Amino acid sequence: TYVIAQPCVDIKDRACVIECPVDCIYEGARTLYINPSECVDCHACEPVCPVEAVFHEDDLPPHWEHYLTVATEYFDEVNRPAQDRQVPLADHPLIDRLPPQSR
Ligand code: F3S
Ligand code: F3S
Repeated sequence: TYVIAQPCVDIKDRACVIECPVDCIYEGARTLYINPSECVDCHACEPVCPVEAVFHEDDLPPHWEHYLTVATEYFDEVNRPAQDRQVPLADHPLIDRLPPQSR
């Protein structure tokens, strides 16, 4: 799968969403998330992101490797019944805790 990492947070350019042929990029409050179980590795999203936030899972910089887990956990939570969710769903808790990001 491809993964959206920290540069997307508070930027949300959305160029990737337009490119994705399977519509597997979903919007949270502060960032977007690629659903790992829907992404077909077409690669279209990666070159269009102006802040280079998108990586193949095997090419994630070490300091952003946890963004694969962030995406996996985010969609696990999305797919739980609403009454079983821990928090109102907007972003993964790790994204919620980030200070405001800027370029
Ligand atoms: Fe984010 Fe880049 Fe897409 S900033 S919304 S990953 S084009
Ligand atoms: Fe879509 Fe990017 Fe995957 S364009 S199919 S999220 S590689």
